[in-house]
Amino acid sequence: MNAGRIYRHIEVEPLTPTIGATLHGVDLARPLTDDAFEEIHAAWMAHQVIFLRDQHISAEQHLAFGRRFGELHIHPAAPYAHGNPELMMIHTDKESFRQNGAGWHSDVSADEEPPLGSILHLETVPKHGGDTLFASMYEAYDTLSEPMRALLDGLTARHESDYTGQYGDHKPQREFPKASHPVIRTHPVTGRKALFVNAGFTRRIEGLSRRESRALLDFLFEHIKNPAFQCRFQWQPHSIAMWDNRCVQHVAIWDYYPETRSGIRVTVKGDRPFH
Ligand code: SIN
Repeated sequence: MNAGRIYRHIEVEPLTPTIGATLHGVDLARPLTDDAFEEIHAAWMAHQVIFLRDQHISAEQHLAFGRRFGELHIHPAAPYAHGNPELMMIHTDKESFRQNGAGWHSDVSADEEPPLGSILHLETVPKHGGDTLFASMYEAYDTLSEPMRALLDGLTARHESDYTGQYGDHKPQREFPKASHPVIRTHPVTGRKALFVNAGFTRRIEGLSRRESRALLDFLFEHIKNPAFQCRFQWQPHSIAMWDNRCVQHVAIWDYYPETRSGIRVTVKGDRPFH
């Protein structure tokens, strides 16, 4: 979708032929015209995860940009900034015992209506490391054999979250979600099919025996790790990464202890996934 599109308001520099692009000519601290917004959205849909550098934005500007894409999502359990649960804190320092997003996942896929996208702005980054990897679930689906796709196409899987103990003393915002979703979902904008199971939240494939489900999920969790499906983002202070949770999984690498990596994620509500 949008391959070969001419952009008039932004410049789009792909990172790989499969996934990821850096956008130039965008300053989210200034008003964004509808035309420029439409191009950002088109580039996002085409490249699945997009990156912006040198974005010196306030929390209000971050929220306002997120709201251009839809209503904002509230994480079930994560601490937030400025007393606003729409501003999820992503923070790791020398006191941390874990880092958010340390395994491959799609954000809060255990919600009945999982968030469509996440917009992460990091202000403080380690001198080296702290990269985030993104993998295309379109590519993961497209590279499966025809019989495997036919098998997966009709199946649903159970997604469950349990954030107990993950955020110290912070009181959760709501009950930990659980939901059943198609194993293969159709993207509501692009119409492409994407694999929608992830090691972070997917517990079992429904209708299969426990052993069958385990074997199939283990295979799929390995399959998505193919480097050919991925791009890797090296953060700088005030970078933004925004990923489409409907077709992308990501993992954040905690290789910089005891340094600090810190910022805010604004997350956009999505729809119920469909086959
Ligand atoms: C997350 O899963 O939202 C964290 C991603 C990151 O810190 O790079």
